[in-house]
Amino acid sequence: MTQFFTVDALSPDKELIQRAAKLIQDGGLVAFPTETVYGLGANATDAEAAKKIYAAKGRPSDNPLIIHISRPEDAALYAEVTPAYERLARAFMPGPLTVILKKKSVIPPSVTGGLDTVAVRCPSHPVARALIEASGTAIAAPSANRSGSPSPTAAQHVRHDLDGRIDAIIDGGACEIGLESTIVALTGDDEAVLLRPGAVTYDALCCVLSHVTLSHTLNGALSENERPLSPGMKYKHYAPSAPLVLLDGEESAVLRYLQNAQRTERCAILCYAEETDSLSPEHLLCVGAREDLAAQSASLFAALRQTDGMNIDVVYAHLPTQDGLGLALYNRLIRAAAHTVKYL
Ligand code: TXA
Ligand code: MG
Repeated sequence: MTQFFTVDALSPDKELIQRAAKLIQDGGLVAFPTETVYGLGANATDAEAAKKIYAAKGRPSDNPLIIHISRPEDAALYAEVTPAYERLARAFMPGPLTVILKKKSVIPPSVTGGLDTVAVRCPSHPVARALIEASGTAIAAPSANRSGSPSPTAAQHVRHDLDGRIDAIIDGGACEIGLESTIVALTGDDEAVLLRPGAVTYDALCCVLSHVTLSHTLNGALSENERPLSPGMKYKHYAPSAPLVLLDGEESAVLRYLQNAQRTERCAILCYAEETDSLSPEHLLCVGAREDLAAQSASLFAALRQTDGMNIDVVYAHLPTQDGLGLALYNRLIRAAAHTVKYL
């Protein structure tokens, strides 16, 4: 039986948080909101609890988990911190940034997929922070979805995927950012590799570290036998049930294509607010205004999930720009579409 706790996102009820923290301390699994997406949490120092996460999600055990701390300085309890970590922490924590560090022995191999590194993140969401603090331990948490479906940005997405498979779900409302955290690996005192783009953008990282490179596995497909720096990048992700096709080209050409598709195909469309008046409302999901990348990020995963319930053969969406937050959107969409792009 999965328990449901509904809390206020900004000032969560202390007693409910205590009950959820007790479940974590007892080796249980609790889903909780963060500013990025919902996480599925377990005590990060408990090898058996971490294994339950993989079972509940149906996740391959070589795909390591992120550990969540409530204060940036707590990283030192679980990992070897470096000056570059401290600079990134001052600039971006608490917030949507995850840093890969060399792990200490309190973190069991079942959390890190056998790697000698661990991913560390200090979320800014008050519910996440309260839960970590009340648990008195770091919380290992991947996104709280079944492996292969989009990350959950609302408690009902977690319920849909994991009801009956975990101990509790804390409902703290919708996630503000809607895309998973930025992940960087530190390769020197002043350099990092961007493994997964998120709301802490490439340009923002470059303000703090002199050398930031994009992992070549970021948006491209891996060649055979290639070992990705971030194991999660090798798995198919965020895929809706119907194939997703991304459209690129002049605004007017893309709109004409979509209008024609609505007449001749069974399709769903993720469109911009500016286009809703020119398209038929059936199977039409507005993800935000054309220039509003934050709104598009916040609504993308929920929109992809909605298409799963539709009787359609194909989903169309716009290919986003790769600037700023666009890089994170681009990365999630291009992977959900398995690189299928139509140039008009
Ligand atoms: O925003 C987020 O990061 C959310 C919330 C819940 O915090 N969490 C999340 O976790 O997205 P997950 O498990 O869905 O994605 C974690 C990614 C995976 O791609 C994994 O391979 C990578 O982080 N990762 C974890 N530990 C790593 C390590 N030691 N080295 C390289 N990559 C690592
Ligand atoms: Mg995930």
